[in-house]
Amino acid sequence: MERVISGEQTNYDDSFEQSLRPQTLRQYIGQDTVKDNLSIFIQAAKGRSESLDHVLLYGPPGLGKTTLATVIANEMGVNVKMTSGPAIERPGDLAAVVSSLEPGDVLFIDEIHRLNRSIEEVLYPAMEDFCLDIVVGKGPSAKSIRLDLPPFTLIGATTRAGSLSAPLRDRFGVPLRLEYYGEGPLKEIVIRSASLFDVDIDDNAAVEIARRSRGTPRIANRLLRRVRDYAQVRGDGSITMGIAKEALEMLQVDSHGLDHIDHKLIVSMIERFRGGPVGIDTIAASIGEESITIEDVYEPYLLQIGFIQRTPRGRIATKLAYDHFGYTFPETMT
Ligand code: ADE
Repeated sequence: MERVISGEQTNYDDSFEQSLRPQTLRQYIGQDTVKDNLSIFIQAAKGRSESLDHVLLYGPPGLGKTTLATVIANEMGVNVKMTSGPAIERPGDLAAVVSSLEPGDVLFIDEIHRLNRSIEEVLYPAMEDFCLDIVVGKGPSAKSIRLDLPPFTLIGATTRAGSLSAPLRDRFGVPLRLEYYGEGPLKEIVIRSASLFDVDIDDNAAVEIARRSRGTPRIANRLLRRVRDYAQVRGDGSITMGIAKEALEMLQVDSHGLDHIDHKLIVSMIERFRGGPVGIDTIAASIGEESITIEDVYEPYLLQIGFIQRTPRGRIATKLAYDHFGYTFPETMT
């Protein structure tokens, strides 16, 4: 089902996701180091009545970068304008958003690694000196005009900090890395979301959902919604351990939270490439996925749980992966 919000098509689950989003640092579960840092910098900036320094949030998808940007704006008591790297095609697009900012506002640019270099050039003086140099007109009559901007906070989010140009990366005073969530914080998130949905959930059912969520709140909330559906149709609406297990089985999410694409990826490495080393493009072609999706979405978690390793000659499947998928690990392999 889809809903239309302010002219844009929004996935129904995504709009639900927004209603689950914490509004303050106190409500935000997990990422303790990031929160401790932010709470100091926010208090200090507020104490000086200044805007917060520019923040770069990086880490795998689904860990709450957009949520955190909203939380930061709320804590600072300012508005947030949201856009993304691919949406800003020309310098004029950037000029249009930044010139609508009020003093202290947050400008959130998702996927900031996808900004093109000509936009980055315009962004540097905006970040450093709060001004925009824009060329208007073409040919001999072209003129450069300088627009003064109010002080603002740029929050950039990226899954690939390494793809950011060094000059852009260096202009963020507060770079923060989001980590995969542990089982404890994820369980708390599941319980919080269930209570917002007004659904009863057993403690051990919340742990089961947390365990299969790949350290990612977005996945935990998605699984929770599907388990809730199952509980409503097959049970009495409350989420018990039995209901959670049955639902997760039906969803084909395994004990580590791996789905059929993770399965295809590892099984292909083992069966077709003898466990590797094999290059990412070769794996991608063999399972019909984009290399970039594998690198950004699937691989980070498989690396984190030690199922694959990256070597200069390509990726290798580890003994843990062989064991999990029921293959015998060739002992001659190193
Ligand atoms: N929902 C999604 N992420 C969350 C988080 N980190 N804390 C609380 N609720 C959340």
